[in-house]
Amino acid sequence: MSLRLGDIAPDFTAQTTQGTINFHEWIGDSWALLFSHPADFTPVCTTELGKTALLKGEFEKKNVKVIAVSVDDLDSHNRWIPDIEEVNNVKFNFPIIADEGRKVAELYDMIHPNASEKATVRSVFIIGPDKKVNLTLTYPASTGRNFQEILRVIDSLQLTANYSVATPADWKNGEDVIITPAVSNEQADQKFPKGYKSIKPYLRVTPQPNL
Ligand code: BEZ
Repeated sequence: MSLRLGDIAPDFTAQTTQGTINFHEWIGDSWALLFSHPADFTPVCTTELGKTALLKGEFEKKNVKVIAVSVDDLDSHNRWIPDIEEVNNVKFNFPIIADEGRKVAELYDMIHPNASEKATVRSVFIIGPDKKVNLTLTYPASTGRNFQEILRVIDSLQLTANYSVATPADWKNGEDVIITPAVSNEQADQKFPKGYKSIKPYLRVTPQPNL
């Protein structure tokens, strides 16, 4: 069965381009972005891994560790990395899991046989420090992911985790957020000293609390 939000992300030990890791230990007290790509030496993947390397500092500012996976072996990953560096003008800076035995792909249901028998689809898992799955996304091989959107979602997830707020459609960091319905007006008065506006009794907005 596929993983659902709130499930504990399966733990595993795997070889990566930065040595052997135990996934839960590697996450530690951070958040984690685990994402799969169909295959090494393919064009869309080359742009995606380069973009992620360029954004590594942005992920770090949010206390997020990034790790990629495909069913290629370590030798293949290591031969591909110089191409990613050259094409994207970046020093490669995060681990890629060598999952030629498909252990991780199967644990995370990343092979969708009606799309491809052999390759992983483009899955995204955002995992919290409690090791729970906070977000899943699945893209086809032909569509490169939007890593700005992944950063945006992380901002939203972290605000929810820390402040009992939700974020509206197309929200971006810095914009007003929504007070979750579980918070009463009395609690909201205490929790949100910047005040809030009731557009409807169930739709109350407040300035982003961590700014
Ligand atoms: C790519 O990464 O470019 C790709 C991989 C598999 C199928 C189509 C595109």
